[in-house]
Amino acid sequence: MSDFAELNLEGKSYKLPIIVGTEEEKAIDISSLRAETGYVTLDSGYKNTGATTSAITFLDGEKGILSYRGYPIEQLAEKSNFIEVAYLLIYGSLPTADELDQFNNRIKRHTLVNEDMRKILDGFPSAAHPMGILSALVSSLTAFYPESVNPNQTTDEVDRTIVRLLAKLSTIAAWSYRNSVGHPVIYPKNRLDYCSNFLNMMFAFPTEEYQINPVVVDALNKLLILHADHEQNCSTSTVRLVGSANASLYSSVSAGISALWGPLHGGANQAVIEMLEQIKADGGDSKKFIAKAKDKNDPFRLMGFGHRVYKNFDPRAKIIKKTADDVLGALGIKDPILGIAKELEEAALTDQYFIDRKLYPNVDFYSGIIYRAIGIPTNMFTVMFALGRLPGWIAQWKEMREQKEPIGRPRQIYVGATERNYVPINER
Ligand code: SDX
Repeated sequence: MSDFAELNLEGKSYKLPIIVGTEEEKAIDISSLRAETGYVTLDSGYKNTGATTSAITFLDGEKGILSYRGYPIEQLAEKSNFIEVAYLLIYGSLPTADELDQFNNRIKRHTLVNEDMRKILDGFPSAAHPMGILSALVSSLTAFYPESVNPNQTTDEVDRTIVRLLAKLSTIAAWSYRNSVGHPVIYPKNRLDYCSNFLNMMFAFPTEEYQINPVVVDALNKLLILHADHEQNCSTSTVRLVGSANASLYSSVSAGISALWGPLHGGANQAVIEMLEQIKADGGDSKKFIAKAKDKNDPFRLMGFGHRVYKNFDPRAKIIKKTADDVLGALGIKDPILGIAKELEEAALTDQYFIDRKLYPNVDFYSGIIYRAIGIPTNMFTVMFALGRLPGWIAQWKEMREQKEPIGRPRQIYVGATERNYVPINER
C-alpha cells in the first residue's frame, strides 16, 4: 500500500501522508493541506474526520468490537470492576493488587466534598435536573481547588486532581438526587466499595442502613464499565476541545457533562424509558411506533436505536440486555416495558428501513430498564452515564495534554453576505 494519497487540484498534484493505526485503521493526514493548497476540508458532524490519534479505546463499528487499552469489553464487563477499569483507562495498564489497593484508598480519602458545596446545592430548586446540578457542581470544584486551574500543574498535582474528581463525582451525583427528592444528603462510608458506597448515598436513610444487594452492585459495576469510554464521541470530543485551551480538568469535564445531557447522546437513556412508557400508555402497539419512526414527517425517533459508528450491533447493548434479564429475574421484578423493548427490537431488526440504515439497539436502549429496577429515577439515568464515562473523559483529557495537542480550532467555509457598506437607519 502506498505511503501517501495523491490529490490533484487545479492542475497541481499533492502527496498527503497516509497514517495506519495499530488496528489497521487508515487516515489521510491533511495537516499541511491549507498551507500547501489553500483548501480546507468540509465534514459536517465530523463523520469522516479523525481529530487525533489515541491509544485508549478501539472500536470497530462494522464488526461490533470495543476494547479498552486492548482488553475486549466483554472480558472487562465479566471479570473486572469499575475502579480497576478506571485505572486501566487512565494509566494504560491493569493495576497489580497493590496498585489497585492504593488507588482505591486514595479515592476513598477524597469522597467528601467541601461543606460549602451544600450551600450551592441548596440553592437549586428541587425541580432542577440532576445533570444541570452535576455540571455546575463539577465546575465549582475549581473554586474549592483553585490550584487545579493552573495549566502547568506537576504530574502529581494533576494526579491528585484526577483522584479528587473520581472520588467526588459519585458523592455529587448522589447528592444531586437527594436534592431533587428533598431528602437529606447521606455522607460517604469509606468502608464500602465504590458502587456500594454510591448506592448507600443514594438510598440510605439517616434512620436505617441501605441493604447492599450483591446482584445490584454487580449490575452497577457492569453498567459503569460499559459506559467508561467510547473514543471520540460528542462529550469526549468536548472534553478534549475545552481541555486543549488549557482549561482545567474540572472545567473540561463540566463541559462534557453538558454535552452528554443531549437526548441524541447520553440523554437517550432517559428518552428511551420515556418512549417505552409512552408506548405502554398508548396501548403497547410497537408496530405503530415503528411506523412513526420511519415516517419522515413524524419527528418521533426510536430512541436507543442507531449509532454514528456501530453499523452492526453495539456490543454493550448485547451485554446490557442480558444483564437486564439477570437483574430483573434475581430481583423478581416483572417490568412490562422490558417486554415492549424486546418487541421493538425484534420488529425493527426485521424492518427494511432499519436494516437499510443499519440501525441497531445502542448502549442506551436497555440500560434504563436496569437503573429503574434498582430504584434509580429516570432523571438520574444520564447522571449514571456520566459517572461511568468519567474515567474515559479523564483518560482522554490526560492523553491530549500529554500529546501536547494544539488548541482545537476548526475552519469553515463562509457563505454569508459579501462586503457591503453600512446604511444609516433613516435610509433603510
Ligand atoms: C450515544 O458516539 C458515541 O460513541 C455515542 C455513545 C457513547 O458511548 O458515547 O455511543 C452514546 O450517544 C449512543 C446514541 C444515543 N442516541 C440515541 O439513541 C438517539 C436516537 N439515535 C439517533 O438520533 C441517531 O441514530 C444517532 C444520533 C445516534 C446517530 O446519528 P447519525 O449517525 O448522525 O445518523 P443520522 O441521524 O444521519 O441517521 C441516518 C439515517 C437517517 O435517515 P435518512 O435521512 O437517511 O432517511 O437513519 C435514520 C435517520 O433519520 N435514523 C433513525 C434513527 N437513527 C437514525 N430513524 C429512526 N430512529 C432512529 N433512532
